[in-house]
Amino acid sequence: MSESTKAGGGLAQKILVGTDGSETASIAVRRATSIAAANGAELVIVSAYSARPPGKLGSGIGSSDAAWAATAEAAAREHVNGAVQAAKDAGVAAVSGDAVAGDPAEVLLSEAEKRGVDLLVVGSKGMQSSSRFLLGSVPNNVSHHTPCDLLIVRTTK
Ligand SMILES: Nc1ncnc2c1ncn2[C@@H]1O[C@H](COP(=O)(O)OP(=O)(O)OP(=O)(O)O)[C@@H](O)[C@H]1O
Ligand SMILES: [Mg+2]
Repeated sequence: MSESTKAGGGLAQKILVGTDGSETASIAVRRATSIAAANGAELVIVSAYSARPPGKLGSGIGSSDAAWAATAEAAAREHVNGAVQAAKDAGVAAVSGDAVAGDPAEVLLSEAEKRGVDLLVVGSKGMQSSSRFLLGSVPNNVSHHTPCDLLIVRTTK
């Protein structure tokens, strides 16, 4: 990241977008893709997946958990690969993707930090889409800790 970008006012050079594979998240991915294409920026697409079944606590990992994790990882990779291809088709030259185990907000924050991105993009809602709240837990959580600019794309009316 250049100093002028850090100081503000510069175009984003490295953009990270999170997706859970939902229709609404794909709106955020498309927005991140257009910004990357317009800026000639690098785009990284990340999907976080849970390495253990919901509600399962404790440290022991059994073989059914390993099967769960493998399925969850494969699904996350599929979301990412589709989005990477769409970004290439949209003219983004530098695009990559990854599926990462962990809590989605924590994964996005640590990937943003580690990769030195200057713009993090998430949708306002994802898979759960509870109508009670405008924001899902991911934009809510990342907004408190983001190491860079954050764009929350309004993905519902
Ligand atoms: N597993 C994930 N990996 C990467 N990004 C994600 C993931 N889940 C959600 N996001 C990002 O966060 C945005 C909002 O989704 P979020 O999960 O916060 O909403 P929700 O599913 O409606 O509600 P919640 O999960 O809080 O019940 C998505 O559009 C996407 O950009
Ligand atoms: Mg969600």
